[in-house]
Amino acid sequence: MFMSVKSAYELQKLREIGKIVRHTLDETAKHVRPGITTLELDAVARKVLEANGAASAPPMVYGFPGALCISVNEEAIHGIPSGRVLSDGDLVKLDCVAVKDGYYADAAITVAAGSAGPTQLALTHCAEKAFQAALRIVRAGARICEIGRAVEQTARREGFRVFRELCGHGVGRKIHEEPQIPNYYEANNRQRLTEGLVITIEPILAAGSAIPVLARDGWTIRSSDGALAAHYEHTLMVTRQGAILITA
Ligand code: CO
Repeated sequence: MFMSVKSAYELQKLREIGKIVRHTLDETAKHVRPGITTLELDAVARKVLEANGAASAPPMVYGFPGALCISVNEEAIHGIPSGRVLSDGDLVKLDCVAVKDGYYADAAITVAAGSAGPTQLALTHCAEKAFQAALRIVRAGARICEIGRAVEQTARREGFRVFRELCGHGVGRKIHEEPQIPNYYEANNRQRLTEGLVITIEPILAAGSAIPVLARDGWTIRSSDGALAAHYEHTLMVTRQGAILITA
């Protein structure tokens, strides 16, 4: 099952939820600072979603305990909002999947609380650069494995690694759809992007070995060696010429 946009109406509905996801992340990011708890950040996000008639999807679909996934430092994805108080230099990943009128969009950003160190800055910037490199590949007919190649090459060039187990994915009418969009090159992946396909591209990088482990809370995925992780993600629609960013 995957979403292929067939009408201007569908694109408009996707863009509507895409804008809400972007606004939610931007507003929440403004509050990231030392001294705030991740639960307080989650409340900011929830308010923005509700005010715009949207709902967070992970609680509805998976029973996730939070509006946003908020992952700190060595946590890569699916961190649970909690009473954890942010410290200066903490690297915070905000991941938002929301739904309105049956249309889903998904995006993530990495923000430092207070002053970021050189590794935090380089890793955060590299995740975004890896996304941009992958975005340049996107057009109908392009091979999906080339997206992963671009992401992994960008990470390696700066001495970082991708979590190979964590992928982009189809999205649009459900939270997770086909196809998978790996962050590394898979030579035997013959799948190609098709016009109208809606996917996420989401480099998830570590400044270490990038081996994911599931934390004891049963949700949070963190690096096995405690290395810092960064995440950058957009939802986009494939066109013949390139891509339309849904969550820009
Ligand atoms: Co995603």
